[in-house]
Amino acid sequence: MWKNVEQAPADAIFGLNDAFKKDPNPKKINLGVGVYKDNKGHTPVLKAVKAAEKILFGMEKTKSYLPIPGDPFYADNVQKLVLGETSDAYTQKRAATIHAPGGTGALRIGAELLKKFNPRAAVWVSSPTWANHKGIFGTAGFELKEYPYYDAQTKSVDMDAFFNCLTKIPSGDIVLMHACCHNPSGVDLSEDQWQQVARIAGEKNWIPFLDFAYQGFGSGVEEDRFAVEAFCGTCNDLFIASSFSKNIGLYNERTGALTIVSPTPEEARVALSHVKLTVRVCYSNPPAHGGLVVSTVLKDKELTTQWLAELDIMRKRIVATRSALVDGLAARGVKEDFSYIKKQRGMFSFSGLSDEVVTWLKENRSIYVVKGGRINVAGLTTDNMDYVCDSIAQGLTVCG
Ligand code: LMR
Repeated sequence: MWKNVEQAPADAIFGLNDAFKKDPNPKKINLGVGVYKDNKGHTPVLKAVKAAEKILFGMEKTKSYLPIPGDPFYADNVQKLVLGETSDAYTQKRAATIHAPGGTGALRIGAELLKKFNPRAAVWVSSPTWANHKGIFGTAGFELKEYPYYDAQTKSVDMDAFFNCLTKIPSGDIVLMHACCHNPSGVDLSEDQWQQVARIAGEKNWIPFLDFAYQGFGSGVEEDRFAVEAFCGTCNDLFIASSFSKNIGLYNERTGALTIVSPTPEEARVALSHVKLTVRVCYSNPPAHGGLVVSTVLKDKELTTQWLAELDIMRKRIVATRSALVDGLAARGVKEDFSYIKKQRGMFSFSGLSDEVVTWLKENRSIYVVKGGRINVAGLTTDNMDYVCDSIAQGLTVCG
């Protein structure tokens, strides 16, 4: 069956992880995949999660199936977190949420559903975007289009081109946006700019689909939902893919959610009924453990406080690490000005390093950076910072 089939290319992000694992160099550093690391280079299980698991293991009585959309208590907690407890969408019960296997699972289920009910729409993604977005929506059968976003010259959003494009997107098309901590650039919109985008979405009647994988890594859990609130105020229909991989560190528990906001509770119920059909034929029902952990943390005030404090530490460490990187490069006399890295938000930085430098770093220093120059800032530590700064400075000189 496979004799005449060409080998598929490695995944842009996880392929790099595989190469990193195989690299025997003891000095190797993984700045690729978006996984938080502490200053010792570890991806810890959060204390709030450990405490929740202890409670759970004591009281868990069954491993029987969850309902197709997952545990309703989990869905309710997701809505409070993602939409806000006092939001109209939440209080008026105009949202339907399912527990999806990770943010990717949420995006894919949303894509399948949209393909069924809005088959002729195009899906617009930012230029650039997370590598998997195109794969997910392309595989679901959508025509993909790009809206201008990051300007490599100014290291910021190309506002004129961005807004100009948004106003020309046809009614009914789907526009995929990063609600905060844009992946890969780390460059976000201001609150004013989000308001403008949401206004255009409402006027032009395109459907926003928010990828909300990094809630809490921008400015905080509440602050980061600004885009969600803006679209809820202007649009009839809104899709949100959220995830607990990063903000509570449940990467391998595949704990995400798809939330669909509709104009009425009746429509939300109809949407849910169809999401259930889609889920049933994809994976039947979600894995339970991660959702139970999240629910246990969120129903306990002390654990919630502990979690938010741990999330704060993660966010603040990344901010401090950005500064250390910029200062470290400046101290080595590199002629490029990297100060824009300090302004970016979330786990990632579009470093501005060319693919030539990225390859040089991998081949000569065993430093792994995603093609395009995306660095996971959380992969930098006090111990490896000098090595990374020295290597980048040298790579820039060698590659010219
Ligand atoms: C990333 O962008 O590195 C993460 O979101 C992990 C992934 O699934 O690609």
